[in-house]
Amino acid sequence: MSEIDRPVLRPRRLRTTPAMRDLVAETTLRPAQLVLPLFVREGATEPTPISSMPGVVQHTRETLRKAATEAAEAGLRGVMLFGIPEAKDAVGSGGTDPDGILNVAIADVVAEVGDALVVMSDLCLDEFTDHGHCGVLTADGRVDNDATLERYAEMARVQAAVGANLVGPSGMMDGQVAVIREALDAAGHLDTGILAYSAKYASAFYGPFREAVDSSLEGDRRTYQQDARNSRESVREVLLDIEQGADIVMVKPALPYLDVLRRVADAVGELGVPVAAYNISGEYAMVEAAAANGWIDREPAILETLTAIRRAGADVILTYWALEAAGLLRD
Ligand code: PBG
Repeated sequence: MSEIDRPVLRPRRLRTTPAMRDLVAETTLRPAQLVLPLFVREGATEPTPISSMPGVVQHTRETLRKAATEAAEAGLRGVMLFGIPEAKDAVGSGGTDPDGILNVAIADVVAEVGDALVVMSDLCLDEFTDHGHCGVLTADGRVDNDATLERYAEMARVQAAVGANLVGPSGMMDGQVAVIREALDAAGHLDTGILAYSAKYASAFYGPFREAVDSSLEGDRRTYQQDARNSRESVREVLLDIEQGADIVMVKPALPYLDVLRRVADAVGELGVPVAAYNISGEYAMVEAAAANGWIDREPAILETLTAIRRAGADVILTYWALEAAGLLRD
């Protein structure tokens, strides 16, 4: 037997013990970096499970308040609220009605948790329109960018008035951040920030979310959300949003777009704008389904997923696992 060449350089040394691995770990994952998305359903008297998102429910106003308190107690620093109205119409009136479900829920949560959480609200029409698109439509059925901007401006004013700390425009209309910033400032809401869904892709992984909000969408969002084949335009979208006044920019989805996330984080790192990533419904459902079948080990898979998103450049992660992950990180 010939003598083997013994390696001089041994990367395994830094992996020998848990203490050694912790000592040299590059990426941190803390509860304060996680934001919990929550759904609230108008008129609901019981929380309604969402079958494609095991463990996630459409809350009643009452259970939403409890969930927000729980989030704060778990060490999370933010919640993102989505409303499901009883009635939908062509222009999404429920989104701008101060008594509409999302707006009353924002006020509820703010009253409940005060400054303990950053209260964020989805600023989009799709939950409120009967056609399910993120904007209003032209006579021939196309999404009308500029008419939609007026609806977003109104929605921003209402959400800020009821106490949202960060509004989250997610409709991918051109110019939405500028219009919202202007509307907020004109109404005196100088401290209400904008978490812009800047690089948002048309994705098959939103499927479970559409069940979560009882979406009536037929067709797709490809005329406004980005094409999965593109990466460079994400940098353009993010820079446009920063120019228009975005306080935080977001990449969405997360897992199938970790390359985009890294690219965006590199591009805006020097500008000092925090980058968020949305670990979306389909990403959640994949892990939950595989774990339910006994095909993967659920808790390590959750932590690995969230760590990967942080490693790729996210400062903040929106995830349906936020509460549970906070518990796992404490143990
Ligand atoms: C739009 C919005 C969507 C999600 C968040 N905001 C759906 C869409 O663009 O189709 C998806 C979140 C998820 O899938 O978890 N209001």
